[in-house]
Amino acid sequence: MTPDAAVAGTTGPVVGVVGGGQLARMLAEAATPMGVHLRVLAAPSDEGAAEVVPDVVVGRADDPAAVRSLAASVDVVTFDHENVDHGVLEELEAAGVAVRPSLRTLRFSDKAHQRREFAAAGLPVPDFVVLDGTDPAADADAAGAFAERHGGRVVVKASRGGYDGRGVWMLDAASVGGFVTGWSGAPLVLEPRLDLLGEVAVLAARRPSGEVATWPVLETVQVDGMCDEVVLPAPVDASVADRAAEVGAQVAEVTGAVGVLAVELFVVAGATGPEVLVNEIAPRVHNSGHLTIEGCATSQFEQHLRAVLDWPLGPTHPTAPVAVMVNVVGGDAGDPRDRQAAALANVPEAHLHLYGKTSRPGRKIGHVTVLGAERGAVRARAREAADLLAGVGGSTP
Ligand SMILES: Nc1ncnc2c1ncn2[C@@H]1O[C@H](COP(=O)(O)OP(=O)(O)OP(=O)(O)O)[C@@H](O)[C@H]1O
Ligand SMILES: [Mg+2]
Repeated sequence: MTPDAAVAGTTGPVVGVVGGGQLARMLAEAATPMGVHLRVLAAPSDEGAAEVVPDVVVGRADDPAAVRSLAASVDVVTFDHENVDHGVLEELEAAGVAVRPSLRTLRFSDKAHQRREFAAAGLPVPDFVVLDGTDPAADADAAGAFAERHGGRVVVKASRGGYDGRGVWMLDAASVGGFVTGWSGAPLVLEPRLDLLGEVAVLAARRPSGEVATWPVLETVQVDGMCDEVVLPAPVDASVADRAAEVGAQVAEVTGAVGVLAVELFVVAGATGPEVLVNEIAPRVHNSGHLTIEGCATSQFEQHLRAVLDWPLGPTHPTAPVAVMVNVVGGDAGDPRDRQAAALANVPEAHLHLYGKTSRPGRKIGHVTVLGAERGAVRARAREAADLLAGVGGSTP
């Protein structure tokens, strides 16, 4: 397919992105130097991409007509988030449109589907049960029995629609039955509340032709169920890192992913040493990979564009001994852009990324990456810069 002639001045490929949040914004930052034209379908409520992307089409990701019209004017369709109407993607694929990742891969955004498919493929996953809500009384009994089997400590997850810990509930044997009976949303996944030794993530990129590249394993630190910090390298034994990379590549194959795929893994104590279990995956660029922008030879955003265009993938090795990313989360302190100069005065080596989003409590509005030589020192510097931007920790000028 040739690029849309209606886009004045473009000669390179046109990549259509469904959704206009910070991931689309950072894809645009990677697209520009490569001469790749990005056209973003952004809803009026989306914040992030429209500020920096000149070619924004206003429309909702769940509006089939809007997605259809975007697809008609680009070479390949990709995504900023997964809340897209599946019917229209089925129709576009049948018509030969390059939808990357495919609908088959996007279906893995559903946590129940993930768990069933990964267990069937022999991938390591926590014990689980899916409750589909067709018989609430039977579901409550099953939930109670599952909780009893796991020492009364269960985690209940909505199979669809959750993010940043929303849609995840830590319950016990006494409360889980009532919760399940009162639930009326998407099917629920129950799993034991595990004693985690830590959490790591593996990012993989895959081309339609099958080439796969994985980045070094990352440590992810969650606070209240939400990613707070990511550290490269992950402080795990080589055996755990190798196993995580192996599982990541297997997940890329099982899901048939094209583009970047993030695999979140739990590290738990096994019979003979630490083991990894797949927590969940996201078939797209991901918060755990933001530090690849400065911290790896090829960023996840550049790699995603290369992969969906079926171009050769880039090297993924680290560019520094240590890289740390800390998220900037909104609060009551107003716009972090008012504090940028102060953050840079104190931590001049920090790479600041602000997404142009309205600051609201609990909302990711930016991130900071610091590279350096020593893990503890780099972590402290990244935290200092993020706190200054967020206006927390008493360090606000
Ligand atoms: N079974 C479990 N045992 C212990 N901790 C868990 C378990 N499940 C989830 N958690 C904790 O809660 C966090 C969020 O869970 P999960 O990744 O399933 O939710 P999410 O809201 O989809 O996350 P994301 O922010 O990645 O979208 C995990 O990273 C982990 O810290
Ligand atoms: Mg998660």
